[in-house]
Amino acid sequence: MFNRLHARLHRPERGWDPVSPQHAASYSEDEWSRIDTALLDDLESSIGGLAGKTVLDLGGGPGHYSVAMALRGARVTWHDVSRSYLAISRDKAAQAGLDGQIDFSLGYLDEAPRRLRKRFDLVFNRICWYYSFSDRSFAAALVSLVAPGGFGYVDTTHSGYRREELGGSARLRTWLNERAGIKVGHPYPPRGRLARLFLRYRLAQLQVDYRVSTNDRILFQKAGDRS
Ligand SMILES: C[S@@+](CC[C@H](N)C(=O)[O-])C[C@H]1O[C@@H](n2cnc3c(N)ncnc32)[C@H](O)[C@@H]1O
Repeated sequence: MFNRLHARLHRPERGWDPVSPQHAASYSEDEWSRIDTALLDDLESSIGGLAGKTVLDLGGGPGHYSVAMALRGARVTWHDVSRSYLAISRDKAAQAGLDGQIDFSLGYLDEAPRRLRKRFDLVFNRICWYYSFSDRSFAAALVSLVAPGGFGYVDTTHSGYRREELGGSARLRTWLNERAGIKVGHPYPPRGRLARLFLRYRLAQLQVDYRVSTNDRILFQKAGDRS
């Protein structure tokens, strides 16, 4: 409710951008220098390759995974709230020779279903889950964006990550989200919540990867026939 209200008052199409051009440039430089190709290889082997697949990079940021997946033959849609990242991603796509081959969409994460009005073979959501309006409604939004038989991939830090460094307000907001599912701002979800949320839907499979102690990584396949 609080985040939805905030979003009504802060519109990206009217120029609001939570990310400064300076931050976007430095995050972009860092991320572009260390794209996790092993992650993409693993994803390809789990979903049967990227070539020919439709992919939504939900919260695509500097576009490094959008470009990497497009170079592997996927038809990629980038969606993010930040114009700073939109400019960087467009530039990087052009530099990679992908001019016109990636679709770009500006908007809040949770608004993607309404804005895009289509489903994808893979929805990829890396390190931005916590910017959603609420954990429960965003899980529903993300599942709705996946085509029957398609896949969803999420990687997010959870609320145990650097918890001891949180100030009073962030601590309270994390507690509220953990205990009551009330989200004000962007607290990380508690460990294990994502898997429980996705299990509410009809899935063909759910893989949970807790090997990195700070992150929840989920890959699920929606039930249904892909054809
Ligand atoms: C840490 S970056 C991750 C980007 C990319 N997915 C990656 O793997 O590097 C977080 C992303 O969330 C986006 N975002 C979405 N909603 C946001 C909000 N309300 N406030 C800040 N950032 C937001 C940012 O624009 C940014 O692209």
